[in-house]
Amino acid sequence: MKGIILHGGHGTRLRPLTHTGPKQLLPIANKPMSQYCIESICDAGITDIAIIIGGLGANKVRDYYGNGENFGVNITYIEQDEPRGIAHAIRLCKEFVNNEKFLVFLGDNIIQKPITNFVENFNKSDYDATVLLCEVDNPSRFGIADVENEKIIKITEKPKKPTSNLAVTGIYLLTPLIFEVIDNLKPSWRNELEITDALDNLLKQNDNIGYETITDYWKDTGTPDDILNANRQVLEHICSKAENILVDESSQDQNFFLDLPCIVGKNCKIDESAQIGPNASIGDNTIISSDVVIENSIIMSDCKIDGGLNIKDSIISANCHLHGNNKDKTKKIFLLGEGTKITL
Ligand code: DAU
Repeated sequence: MKGIILHGGHGTRLRPLTHTGPKQLLPIANKPMSQYCIESICDAGITDIAIIIGGLGANKVRDYYGNGENFGVNITYIEQDEPRGIAHAIRLCKEFVNNEKFLVFLGDNIIQKPITNFVENFNKSDYDATVLLCEVDNPSRFGIADVENEKIIKITEKPKKPTSNLAVTGIYLLTPLIFEVIDNLKPSWRNELEITDALDNLLKQNDNIGYETITDYWKDTGTPDDILNANRQVLEHICSKAENILVDESSQDQNFFLDLPCIVGKNCKIDESAQIGPNASIGDNTIISSDVVIENSIIMSDCKIDGGLNIKDSIISANCHLHGNNKDKTKKIFLLGEGTKITL
């Protein structure tokens, strides 16, 4: 079986974080979110993976993952000229897939539990496709499946008046039959070839789509709040498993106050009067000076924060410098693109 990760798109809803790179490389607990996809796919026994790249920062993806050997997989890069839709991106992989069953993982989806069982069940089945469904509170943001008597009867992309709260998550198990369906697909109102339309057409054609339900954590990281939510969830998960607290060895000989769960990267300098956490991820080489508090936030690498700032619910990209005035201790919320400099 082959795997495909979608790593294209413009990430417009996450600006300014995505002005300098693709959203799927934004870190969750100090690791790019698409790396969790690669690890899930690899853990399910799939090691031939195509990554769809396109637009801003495609080279950053190639630089980070290379040929995949550092991640235990073989990576083929496939370029998409414009984000013309998920189904369009999948169609570009026809030759790569080479008549096998395959798995597609959207690079901005985070799932906690292994996907091995879903993959094995699909391999054994004779379904033309299997989708993974998850109950959500805001169904009009997703592709939605209507299910009756344990069968999917309809799949609709972002319905204005949803008739179900079962989101079709961004993990699709497919057969090459989908390529024929995509070839006959018309662009949607947002001018994209939608995977939901392809699946709905396949359903009308053969009535042979299976589904499984995700009852644990799953998140489409479409907004900054979603990213902070995923960061909290992943930190909780890894801190509950880790024997040591997640401070890199090179940053450990300092006495700052850690409120778990949180993670601190390599070569950080953190003053002993600073408070890190709960739910904070601090990237490599970041310097945090006296009396700074960082709570429920992602601070990426090479940042400098001083002046007693009290930071909460924030995402601060790499190489930002923030200087507080040591007087104003009210909680501050930032959403900052790479290289921002702020003096208060
Ligand atoms: O996350 C689940 C949802 O993902 C599904 O419920 C929806 O049915 C599905 O359409 C998709 O909805 P989004 O609106 O969230 O998709 P988005 O445009 O964010 O694209 C999803 C991922 O695929 C993202 O990592 C970018 C990448 N992508 C997207 C397009 C349109 C590409 O690589 N190429 C593309 O052409």
